[in-house]
Amino acid sequence: MWKSAIEDAVAKTTANGTKHGARFPHIRGKTEGHGYDWRDNTDWIEGFYAGMMWLSYEYGGDPLLRDIALEQMKDFRRRLDEDIALDHHDIGFLYSPSAMAAWIVEGNEDAKRLALDAADKLLRRWRPEGGYIQAWGKRGDEKNGGRIIIDCLMNIPLLYWATEQTGNPAYREIAIQHADKSRRYLVRGDDSSYHTFYFNPSDGVPIGGGTHQGFHDGSTWTRGQAWGIYGFALSFRYTGDSQYLETSRRLARYFAERLPEDDVVYWDFDVPMDEDTYRDSSASAIAACGMLELAGHLQEDDPDRTYFANVAERTMRSLVKNYSTMDDANAEGLIRHGSYYVRGDLGPDDYMIWGDYYYLEALMRLEEGVPGYWYERNK
Ligand code: GLY
Repeated sequence: MWKSAIEDAVAKTTANGTKHGARFPHIRGKTEGHGYDWRDNTDWIEGFYAGMMWLSYEYGGDPLLRDIALEQMKDFRRRLDEDIALDHHDIGFLYSPSAMAAWIVEGNEDAKRLALDAADKLLRRWRPEGGYIQAWGKRGDEKNGGRIIIDCLMNIPLLYWATEQTGNPAYREIAIQHADKSRRYLVRGDDSSYHTFYFNPSDGVPIGGGTHQGFHDGSTWTRGQAWGIYGFALSFRYTGDSQYLETSRRLARYFAERLPEDDVVYWDFDVPMDEDTYRDSSASAIAACGMLELAGHLQEDDPDRTYFANVAERTMRSLVKNYSTMDDANAEGLIRHGSYYVRGDLGPDDYMIWGDYYYLEALMRLEEGVPGYWYERNK
């Protein structure tokens, strides 16, 4: 089952690369119809498309995919050098599956330099007065100056990796302080999570939790919970600090215990359900990768090891069977029914390029033991 799903994904990724060249998939608004728009490299999501090229190249070895990925890397270099639309923390999402990937797959030194320069850029979002990495906007931004979001746990692996590569402890120290702050303020006592938390930007005094893409401030946005599962498991991988592993486990259990009948989540755990409630297949693809990562760190005799591996496999079976576009050779996306920002009418029910990436990453983990591009393979 995994093999045929990967082959379909690789064929679609190859077709997209051939047809759209150096353009990247973007998410449409609610009224713009289904499918990707193909534009330039100016959002937070382009790294995922590059990562799909690398995963597909690792699977089948088609040199065309490598050529496309290397062309894209020039664009990622230009974007960093010209500082295009990088006033946010998603530098890890952009540069891990693109530049770090090229380094991991083939030891490309230019790619390593690019990933390290990207890590430097991310480091500049550290706010020592508050002890966190600012998620969005410029320093001092009225609305966002004191804001962290749970998604950042997937950006900080770039920092841990930069310390490994350079020996400079600053990246790792900041990643750890940010992960600790996230653990304390974004994870609630019942193992659910806030999407976002605000601090007073001048002295770091905590103000309160909230949401941007979830249903309401106190609800649990499923994708945020999934970012937390995977992100804390990665912080454990890099640091060996068991508190991160336990946090990943708690978030994963909360997620697993609230799965609907077909094992693919709705966009928020607290949204009222009726036949029109949107799913978020991308949250389930991320959670599947996170649970596979988590399970890999648990002891052989820990029952959660099998439990989370089984939940991840069940999720992937449902994504392949009920959500994938394997029934449509012309589709440009891999899984249907993702949601981006439901209350903002942005991509409430469409392909999400990060959903496609994590779907393919999970398939590659299951079939080939290839874990994506968030850490070195020899670790
Ligand atoms: N990182 C933004 C999102 O998950 O929509």
